[in-house]
Amino acid sequence: MKFFIDTANLDQIREAQSLGILDGVTTNPSLMAKEGITGRNNILKHYVDICNIVDGDVSAEVIATDFEGMIKEGEELAELHPQIVVKIPMIQEGVKAIKYFTDNGIKTNCTLVFSLGQALLAAKAGATYVSPFIGRLDDISTDGLNLIADIREVYDNYAFQTEILAASVRHTMHVIECAKIGADVMTGPLSSITGLLKHPLTDIGLEKFLADYKKGN
Ligand code: E4P
Repeated sequence: MKFFIDTANLDQIREAQSLGILDGVTTNPSLMAKEGITGRNNILKHYVDICNIVDGDVSAEVIATDFEGMIKEGEELAELHPQIVVKIPMIQEGVKAIKYFTDNGIKTNCTLVFSLGQALLAAKAGATYVSPFIGRLDDISTDGLNLIADIREVYDNYAFQTEILAASVRHTMHVIECAKIGADVMTGPLSSITGLLKHPLTDIGLEKFLADYKKGN
């Protein structure tokens, strides 16, 4: 399972990268705004800064919602750095844009996916990644993990190559359940990754080992 971090915060990206287990980064316009990154040029520069920190795919989202606009913007994003994956929303024009980019060898991440039908369309268009937002489904009392399981089953039925990128991951149990189901990738905040480290028995055990060592030395 690949681990992506879902942030535009460079310090958090550096911290995750330093663990040696980071496979990529996802961003979105809200995450960019949260870091105060505004204006086209600053946003493009920030994507390059992220690419220079991580080894792996970096999703950069288009703002246009029409086919021509998405193509123009996506091509500009893809030219920034070889690690860029163009993030396209799951709308009718988006499906066409994903197909275009697939045919032209540009990686895509189909975002804002909330149903199995949408995931099927993303795979048919050849998306590199499909991003079902499990946390946002949970927020409206719908089981996000169920959607991951359904997509896994359907993609396996037809051997679709599109990777299931479990997005809107909020906590460690999302990560663990996604791994059990067989999601290819998860993207979440730094806490959903570092939280996996924690176990009280590890802390108690280590404290005892160190204390016992000190007794003998
Ligand atoms: C995915 O690519 C999105 O950036 C993200 O996971 C959305 O997460 P949120 O629902 O916590 O905003």
